[in-house]
Amino acid sequence: MTIDLNSRYGLNAAHSEVKAACNIITPCKVLDMGCSNGRNALFLSQQGFEVTAVDNNANAIDMLQRIINDEGLNNINAKVYDINQAQLSESYGFISCTVTLMFLKPSVVDKVIKDMQAHTAPNGYNLIVCAMSTDQYPCPMPFSFTFDTGELKNAYQGWELIKYNEELGTMHNGAQLQFATLLAKKIA
Ligand SMILES: C[S@@+](CC[C@H](N)C(=O)[O-])C[C@H]1O[C@@H](n2cnc3c(N)ncnc32)[C@H](O)[C@@H]1O
Repeated sequence: MTIDLNSRYGLNAAHSEVKAACNIITPCKVLDMGCSNGRNALFLSQQGFEVTAVDNNANAIDMLQRIINDEGLNNINAKVYDINQAQLSESYGFISCTVTLMFLKPSVVDKVIKDMQAHTAPNGYNLIVCAMSTDQYPCPMPFSFTFDTGELKNAYQGWELIKYNEELGTMHNGAQLQFATLLAKKIA
């Protein structure tokens, strides 16, 4: 039986959308953008993906690296990277970016998404979950960036939308806001 590394290290379970995506994406090279201390990266590693996990928080990467070393994991490469640079250097079958775009510089988000798309292999996937701010539900959190209605979907014209919604969610502090959730496949 595989030991659940998230539980072993006191981390939350992987994001529900990452888990759901793994039901349709076969293990491949995956990039976890904004990995924090690795809840999604560890899950993906245990599913057999070849994981690159990046975050601009060096302490989070150090913590993940300690787990990688302790467990002798050979399929996670954790490194410090500022997503605002929009300069990925490799191509991936799956790029996952959950609840991270809302911390970026608003002026670069479009470029970051284009860079993700350009570094996705043919028939590969992008998963994005990000806060929104709409007339009906203005974002109550001081995020630097939020999507408008339909904005994320429009950025993926020409891709196959496997999943797209703008559902209302509740933060840990009870605040309600919409989240744009997208799983899209790059048409070869
Ligand atoms: C809310 S956490 C989400 C973590 C993870 N994706 C998840 O689903 O649990 C946001 C993460 O994005 C990282 N982050 C914020 N701005 C970043 C940037 N410019 N470059 C890289 N990572 C960034 C933060 O350090 C933090 O770990």
